Amino acid sequence: MTTIAIMGALDEEIALYLSKLEEKYEEKLAGFVFHSGNLNGAHVVVVKSGVGKVNSSVCAQALIDCFSVSHMIFTGVAGAINPDLNVKDIVVSTQSIQHDMDARALGYSRGRIPFSELKAFDADAKLCELALQSAKKQNIHAIKGVILSGDQFITDAKIGRELRAELDGDCVDMESAAVAHACALNKVSHVIIRAISDKADHSAQESFEKICHDAANNSFAIVYEMIPHIIIHDDAPAIIKSKIRTIPNWPKKGVMYRDITTLLKDKEGLGITIDFLVKRHKGKKIDVVAGIESRGFIIGAALANKLGVGFVPIRKKGKLPGKIISASYSLEYGTDTIEIHEDAIHKGARVLIFDDLIATGGTATAACELVTRLGGIIAECCFIIDLPDLGGSKKLKEAGHKVFAITSFEGD
Ligand code: ADE
Repeated sequence: MTTIAIMGALDEEIALYLSKLEEKYEEKLAGFVFHSGNLNGAHVVVVKSGVGKVNSSVCAQALIDCFSVSHMIFTGVAGAINPDLNVKDIVVSTQSIQHDMDARALGYSRGRIPFSELKAFDADAKLCELALQSAKKQNIHAIKGVILSGDQFITDAKIGRELRAELDGDCVDMESAAVAHACALNKVSHVIIRAISDKADHSAQESFEKICHDAANNSFAIVYEMIPHIIIHDDAPAIIKSKIRTIPNWPKKGVMYRDITTLLKDKEGLGITIDFLVKRHKGKKIDVVAGIESRGFIIGAALANKLGVGFVPIRKKGKLPGKIISASYSLEYGTDTIEIHEDAIHKGARVLIFDDLIATGGTATAACELVTRLGGIIAECCFIIDLPDLGGSKKLKEAGHKVFAITSFEGD
């Protein structure tokens, strides 16, 4: 189960989240007020940590211990030390470092936690990517960067330049690396999303006060939009599986029929299935989706449309009106034949083969044969359900195809 913690140091930084939180309830612990509820379809806990590394790390630990947090997002404002950044720009962390951890006298480089290997704390690469995509969609200028945290509000450009020179940071704040440190110790994935409120120079205080509200709006817009993608990524297979109905002894005794109609009629189930597959295949240079009759047509066509490509049906014998090529495969008793239009796929096209379920793999293997004979390149054979005990996915893999199924069921 995904529980996303959203932390900010100041009231302004969490105000928008609180205003959009549904079914919220509050709990108080260690002086913090934790607001749980639903935000854009996800279960979240929003909290103001207060300023500084101690506040934020204690708060992060309380979130992890008491709320079973799966993802931590720290959002708020920061001072730019990268001269290319302007106020309201966003820095999404790749790493964060405690710049005021300074045991150089003991021979450790600045930021390194003495007597340990710890220095730069890595953000979760997927969360980082989702945040950048969210910013791009909303035309908010965002960069990946290194965030430097310390218990100082920096208003001296010279200090900023030194920190940048020494630690290659992009912005400074007073909490991020402490939260990242707590997350690392607890193996919780995190990302920091900071909007630039000032340039960490003589004008920082005035700029901070003026810009803080607008800058926090930008961080909020990014986090709000990325939330459903976090859920899709992590929870979709379990949600999809839970919406597939099993009908025992259909169409014959001993068969556990996995019925996707219950998934399809459910608006959340249908949406998550399509979104999950779109996410998987976007950017993979798919030229066309080939769906296998008949249930491969339903999601296959929607997927093709969302990928911005066309859809080709692979049909049972005698259904296609134009010139066809055909391939046969064996059944328990006898054989069956599937067909594709000869002009359906151009030479060299990258084809995504899609069906709802892979069992013994006869149809899918024949579909691969048809696509290959037309000169197509099979990007992947993709299914909602795999029945691995029936060996079809193994067979396809052994034939050199890439195979993916969202979920699987034991038995037949
Ligand atoms: N947060 C926002 N601006 C900052 C600055 N200049 N120094 C430290 N933390 C900040």
